Amino acid sequence: MKQQVTLIATAAMGLESIVAQEVRALGYQDTTVENGRVLFTADAAAIPRCNLWLRTADRIKVLVGQFEAKTFDSLFEQTKALPWERYIPEDGEFPVIGKSVKSTLYSVSDCQAIVKKSVAERLKQKYGVASWLEESGGFYRIEVALHKDQVTLSIDASGTGLHKRGYRIGQGEAPLKETLAAALVKLTNWRADQPFVDPFCGSGTIPIEAALIGQNIAPGFNREFASESWELVGSDLWERAHEEAEDLADYDQPLDITGSDIDHRMIEVAKDNAMEAGLGDLVAWKQMQAKDFHPQQATGYLVGNPPYGERIGDKAEVEKMYREFGKVMQQLPGWSVYILTSNERFETLYGKKATKKRKLFNGYIKTDYYQFFGGK
Ligand SMILES: C[S@@+](CC[C@H](N)C(=O)[O-])C[C@H]1O[C@@H](n2cnc3c(N)ncnc32)[C@H](O)[C@@H]1O
Repeated sequence: MKQQVTLIATAAMGLESIVAQEVRALGYQDTTVENGRVLFTADAAAIPRCNLWLRTADRIKVLVGQFEAKTFDSLFEQTKALPWERYIPEDGEFPVIGKSVKSTLYSVSDCQAIVKKSVAERLKQKYGVASWLEESGGFYRIEVALHKDQVTLSIDASGTGLHKRGYRIGQGEAPLKETLAAALVKLTNWRADQPFVDPFCGSGTIPIEAALIGQNIAPGFNREFASESWELVGSDLWERAHEEAEDLADYDQPLDITGSDIDHRMIEVAKDNAMEAGLGDLVAWKQMQAKDFHPQQATGYLVGNPPYGERIGDKAEVEKMYREFGKVMQQLPGWSVYILTSNERFETLYGKKATKKRKLFNGYIKTDYYQFFGGK
């Protein structure tokens, strides 16, 4: 019988439901959606599969336990009562990170030290180690997170955050996180056989994520994960997950994706990133101003993350550009347009009321995702 584990897929604020959808699409139906995270129970094979496939989650963690603690003694004892040996082998390296919000135990460094000591005691007892643990093996980063005295103890299965796909070798001033770019694409109804354009492509994140989605390429195929060396998973399950990703990739799916930007240097960066992502010349890149957008096709999808004009001095210019861009797009009623910006006057400047709006955070910047559905 395969090991059952409870997993946490962490999500940026506003993306939880999309992460949950992705988890369910991988076959794990029983999801619990909370602020900033999606919980689900699955067999150990879900660890490599979720790490490889989830496009919009920040990280995958294994939940070890949850309980209430208001004293250090209680934190120590309840941590020690958890079955750490199920996850961490005798030689496992287990640093502890932490956070505490609105909790009696507010000293994060003390909580970390207590959890470290408690897990070490448990492992020494279970493995019959009298002296110290070597910690020379695989990497098991424990997180102790307190929220209103509720303690969550988990182990990070991803390592570097999942937004690091491994293809971004260059970037511009304000690159979009790959996970958010994938979410922007997933929030449209675009299908791989339809035209897709990002006229503010910068380092190319949105078109690259669209191409990976279009050809069903697992976003994590090009990188490593902390849990690759875990005994709990084993190299077989990792190999199988990689084989599955290779089998499901549809490299023959033709794509009509274009990225353009006013800055020719960004086009070079985007090209290099697409090459690194293994997309070759699947995406068309060109230097162009957004107002010069004149597509051949009457219908298509345009997804963009233009400058927001937040810096002093930029605002007037950016707002002028939004106006000009809006005028061009009003001539193209068949196109569906999706724009992420923090500018609250966007609809007025663009000259049209959005069909739908969705609040999203781009890092710490509060933005709206304006969605204008195209007609037939
Ligand atoms: C916020 S950045 C986009 C970042 C991109 N999503 C990424 O992940 O790298 C905005 C981009 O819009 C470009 N830009 C600014 N004004 C433009 C215009 N009038 N037409 C086309 N692109 C423009 C900038 O050069 C910049 O690369």
